[in-house]
Amino acid sequence: MTTPELPVLPPGFLFGAATAAYQIEGAADEGGRGPSIWDTYCRTPGRVARGESGDVACDHYHRYPEDVALLQELGVDAYRFSIAWPRVLPTGKGEVNPEGLAFYDRLVDAVCEAGIEPVATLYHWDLPQALEDEGGWRVRSTAEHFAEYARVVADRLGDRVRRWITLNEPHCAAFVGHAVGRHAPGTREGTPALAAAHHLLLAHGLAARELRDSAARHGRPAEVGITLNPERLVPATDSAEDAAAVDRAETLHNRVWLDPLLRGHYPENEAATWGPMADGSYRSPEDAATIAQPLDFVGINYYRPVHVRHAPLPDAATRTAVDIGVEQVPVEGVRHTTMGWPVVPESFTDLLLHLHRQYPELPPVHITENGSAEPDVPAADGRVHDEDRVAYLRDHLSALADAIAAGVDVRGYFVWSLLDNFEWAYGYDRRFGIVAVDYETLTRTPKDSYHWYREMVRSHRERR
Ligand code: NOJ
Repeated sequence: MTTPELPVLPPGFLFGAATAAYQIEGAADEGGRGPSIWDTYCRTPGRVARGESGDVACDHYHRYPEDVALLQELGVDAYRFSIAWPRVLPTGKGEVNPEGLAFYDRLVDAVCEAGIEPVATLYHWDLPQALEDEGGWRVRSTAEHFAEYARVVADRLGDRVRRWITLNEPHCAAFVGHAVGRHAPGTREGTPALAAAHHLLLAHGLAARELRDSAARHGRPAEVGITLNPERLVPATDSAEDAAAVDRAETLHNRVWLDPLLRGHYPENEAATWGPMADGSYRSPEDAATIAQPLDFVGINYYRPVHVRHAPLPDAATRTAVDIGVEQVPVEGVRHTTMGWPVVPESFTDLLLHLHRQYPELPPVHITENGSAEPDVPAADGRVHDEDRVAYLRDHLSALADAIAAGVDVRGYFVWSLLDNFEWAYGYDRRFGIVAVDYETLTRTPKDSYHWYREMVRSHRERR
């Protein structure tokens, strides 16, 4: 581990690590937690690899003191975690579950006592099943219930949590959940997937208001953001057809979120992109202003570039919301992680510069996730010498430093993830942690990447 190779980020830059409730907590039936759409999805045969689920996961619900100690030893400034809505409100609304709130109280206390800033995400995909039974994100009432949930959490934790992320990757919640069908609730729908996208945006806006109201009522500071996963889209060829395909994909992945959030309206080409799926009947005129609440920061999750080409559209009758005439093509000549994702650090710089140019109104950015899934075979000494992950993190932090040098206002970076965890439909064999988790014994073992990141953080501390 040679210090000179460490990327250099600006003074005051925030270093963190991230996790999400369903991926690490386990204790699915404990503490009065209600079921979420991910519990249901995992129990549906054929949905998740090997029939795995988050029932036990990393057992963080019981082992959080050990995980906080790992964070403290890592030396990070901040910890991004998510709150499980069905722990706080088991049916998504109405009766609050005191045991659920008490768990997050203990967790936040432990994080603060370790001298680490807690950064809370309110929604990382675990919608209470009872709300799904009423229509889930396809219906407006879910956005209203989310606001109620945001108020309950902010009133309780807002004395210690200053930075809030309303939603994590609403693109995945809306489209991977309701159109691709690879995430809960696992449906393939057209217009309802677009309605889900709108109601997620609305939920963000309503919750942002509640978070700020709660802070104002209690005389506390609050910073509100949302985490998106905008894609760096690259055309497969320089044909006009592929350029048009990139344009439609930009709408699906990036503009449909950023335009309403930052500009107060949906992108101009959206009707052309959605084709027969377009139907704005679920939108009401005053929603635009609600969605475009001022943002203190925007969270960006980045992993890989996506190369696309034009694809012929199927008949209107068989189209879904994702049939926008775009096909993904493999990225050749680079290493791929165990997710099958190409490793192209420069495209991280490109993405940030692209967003910076396209949206001059972009608020300060936090990289709320970045990391890689690797095979992580333990060596004879029992340790995980994950050089590929170290290289991935180092090269992406350098790419980030390049974007900052070119003028993008990025304030923080959270490695995904502190722990190996439940990687959704892929189950447990995709390992993103900088700490290895043995799922038989639940033992945690820091990998080489943990030690590398610790050194990275320490070198910046010294410079302060
Ligand atoms: C983004 C998601 O927010 C997180 O839950 C997931 O584990 C990582 N990407 C890796 O796929």
